[in-house]
Amino acid sequence: MTTRLRLTAGAAALAAGLWFLSGAAAAPVLPPETYKKAAEADVAQLQKHLDHIAKEPMDAKRYGPTAKSVAMLLAAYGEATGDKGLTDQALKVAEALAKKDYKTADAEAKKLAVKAGGKPLAAGDLHKMHKYDLAEVMSPFRGGKVGGLNIEKDIRDAFKKDAPVPVDPAAVEVLAARTAVIGEYTLHFPNEKATVNTASKAQWEKWTKDMIGTSQKLIAESAKGKKADEKALVKMLNTLDTTCRDCHNKFRDD
Ligand code: HEC
Repeated sequence: MTTRLRLTAGAAALAAGLWFLSGAAAAPVLPPETYKKAAEADVAQLQKHLDHIAKEPMDAKRYGPTAKSVAMLLAAYGEATGDKGLTDQALKVAEALAKKDYKTADAEAKKLAVKAGGKPLAAGDLHKMHKYDLAEVMSPFRGGKVGGLNIEKDIRDAFKKDAPVPVDPAAVEVLAARTAVIGEYTLHFPNEKATVNTASKAQWEKWTKDMIGTSQKLIAESAKGKKADEKALVKMLNTLDTTCRDCHNKFRDD
């Protein structure tokens, strides 16, 4: 569906008083500078994933879901920063990946460009596009060796008991931007266990909002660059990890 059509559908829902169906929740509010850094990092990351798939087609099963997720993150960054070209192009990549058409995905990814944006675009119900699902949403969190973006391990490495890895504020800023936007998508995908009753659904929402909130705090601190308080960052990464674990303990099967 084109963006124009999606916007029209959203506007019709608004007019009908069905605002809650129009996906009013847009990408989270993050500093434009942070979005720009995350977008540039993820255009490069997406290409790396697609290059890997081209070289090792057998790995598509593990790298493909992350690549699609990164394309969907880029679409959300574009929406948040008013960069319609980025959103539209990222959706073309996601569309090809939904069809496991890696050649087209690669050709479309090479046309991705991050432009200076402006006002956020109207929320276009991105989560409903190209069969995006929760497993894909979570896929970038997986280890780098199994096709993820190593986010979970990077979070935990910062506070592990023996030999914690020193935090790099610039890397934390991108990690937190990805996590915040993954959180925004997660809000839309409560799984079966989380939809058995209203209390479970509320719990799903709470943990997801905590994940977004902690990511926003991580960004505020890490964006200070060299002046960032590293101890505070490590503490926040620990808090973030607790939220991930709490939700997995209650709602994840494996
Ligand atoms: C609101 C609940 C919730 C939160 C918050 C959450 N997760 Fe998940 N996560 C899940 C569920 C449910 C699954 C299983 C998805 C599936 O396979 O269908 C999952 C799956 C995963 C997977 C496995 C993905 C795969 O394809 O193998 C990883 C890794 C992961 N989560 C990491 C994280 C990290 C890191 C955080 C925090 C930064 C986090 N999750 C926050 C619910 C959550």
